[in-house]
Amino acid sequence: MTEIFHSTEDVLRFAIAGEKDAAQGYVDLAAQAKSESARAFLLELWGEELEHARLLEALNPAALPASGAGGAADLRISDYVVDEPLGDDPSFQDLLIFAAKKEAKAAALYAGLAARSAAAAQKKLFEFLVGQERTHKLRLEQEYEKYVLPEN
Ligand SMILES: [Fe+2]
Ligand SMILES: [Fe+2]
Repeated sequence: MTEIFHSTEDVLRFAIAGEKDAAQGYVDLAAQAKSESARAFLLELWGEELEHARLLEALNPAALPASGAGGAADLRISDYVVDEPLGDDPSFQDLLIFAAKKEAKAAALYAGLAARSAAAAQKKLFEFLVGQERTHKLRLEQEYEKYVLPEN
């Protein structure tokens, strides 16, 4: 994997793919949920990630942070990828924590884009996404604790 993005459009493609991947991940996870409330929660995240993909797809690329030094394209791809491999048969809890880590990376990516956005509307969108992904991370961790802490 290359170290940096080649263009702002590259960053956007990466983000949209990440949203779709996250959405699919939550559908898969919902299928394994042990309670109706966990299932509903995961399907809520699925819907929000799909909405994020739609919002990003609707962005006007011309209004995105500029490519080149100081622009979106200097973001390092490796900073936004969760590289910790999951085992062959990860538990539901493992998957919740893996998803929470991916949420943290997504929040960091949008924070990077927000910081580089000159256009107010784009900055607002990326800041909105930062807030959503941070909330997802927190809620996933709370879900994780429901299963893990009582056993310890
Ligand atoms: Fe998202
Ligand atoms: Fe998310």
